[in-house]
Amino acid sequence: MKTPLPGGYQVSHGSQTLSFVSADVADPSAIINAVKIVEGKLNGAGLNLLINNAGIYAPVTLETVDSEEMIRAYKTNAVGPLLMAQAFLPLLKKAARESTDKGLSCSKAAIINISTIMGSIEKTSESFFKPVISYRCSKVWRLGPCLPL
Ligand SMILES: NC(=O)c1ccc[n+]([C@@H]2O[C@H](COP(=O)([O-])OP(=O)(O)OC[C@H]3O[C@@H](n4cnc5c(N)ncnc54)[C@H](OP(=O)(O)O)[C@@H]3O)[C@@H](O)[C@H]2O)c1
Repeated sequence: MKTPLPGGYQVSHGSQTLSFVSADVADPSAIINAVKIVEGKLNGAGLNLLINNAGIYAPVTLETVDSEEMIRAYKTNAVGPLLMAQAFLPLLKKAARESTDKGLSCSKAAIINISTIMGSIEKTSESFFKPVISYRCSKVWRLGPCLPL
């Protein structure tokens, strides 16, 4: 059964409920609003997993890219995941503190940032048949190491 929720909707099947909350990751106030809704749904529990999947891709080349497109790509693909991680960090830390799991684990607390081979400097020569300059640049930062929360 699908029912509306502030900022989204939820789907229930028996005792299982899946809630969907919309947020523009390029809009800091929308992120804060989403955190409040998620916090309410968690009912005092922490958040185990944040997946930063939202991303945009424009077929621009070195000849056609402009500053507006670069800023647009960075806002969604680089700054958005950073703001999401920052805003959801207290809930993730709460889940990590309350977990008995040892080491790194998605069932404890984790952030997964969806990267792309296009963001790999090492592999540029294999994929440059698609220049997508703004996408590549805005995704490079994601190829970082895992750090414990
Ligand atoms: N497809 C590939 O071959 C491939 C390869 C490697 C990595 N990836 C990465 O995988 C992720 C998903 O890609 P995809 O191929 O599934 O792309 P997609 O079909 O275009 O989906 C992207 C999703 O991001 C959402 N989104 C875009 N801007 C947003 C914003 N500002 N705030 C919130 N949501 C936003 C879109 O929502 P709306 O539909 O509402 O706009 C859409 O649901 C991306 O991070 C991409 O870089 C994809």
